[in-house]
Amino acid sequence: MKKRRRKNGNRSNKEMYSEKVMDHFNNPRNVGEIEDASGVGTVGNAKCGDIMRIYLDIDEDTKVIKECKFKTFGCGAAVATSSMATELVKGKTIYEALKVTNKAVMEALDGLPPVKVHCSLLAEEAIHAALWDYAQKNNIEIEGLQPPKADISEEEPAEEE
Ligand code: FES
Repeated sequence: MKKRRRKNGNRSNKEMYSEKVMDHFNNPRNVGEIEDASGVGTVGNAKCGDIMRIYLDIDEDTKVIKECKFKTFGCGAAVATSSMATELVKGKTIYEALKVTNKAVMEALDGLPPVKVHCSLLAEEAIHAALWDYAQKNNIEIEGLQPPKADISEEEPAEEE
């Protein structure tokens, strides 16, 4: 019988995840809630059961995101991506925050393993959902912003087929 040795079979999490991912997982930034937030977005993935909620405090005049907090009930990558996403949108206008895509979050974290890409999509969608909530509450339109999806699992790569 052929002996098969998986090249990466003994990979530890440290090797699988970048140092930045591990850092944001171990020391997540901006964890918590914002009371009377300008916008709150909650999204989930039915497949893995993970849920992410993002709170935004937005300056009425400048439309700058002054504060951003998150609560994530999910995997380590979901914690790391939400932590990084909150860092990336802080100080940006609501229009600039729209450009914080899951790719931008992944790049800022020096990448994610392919099976964890959907975790970064959750972060992008949670920001969009919070912006949508803000827009609805204030009766404004943010160009390019789509209504939040109830479940982001459809965006996952079809790796099981
Ligand atoms: Fe689902 Fe990470 S495994 S968000």
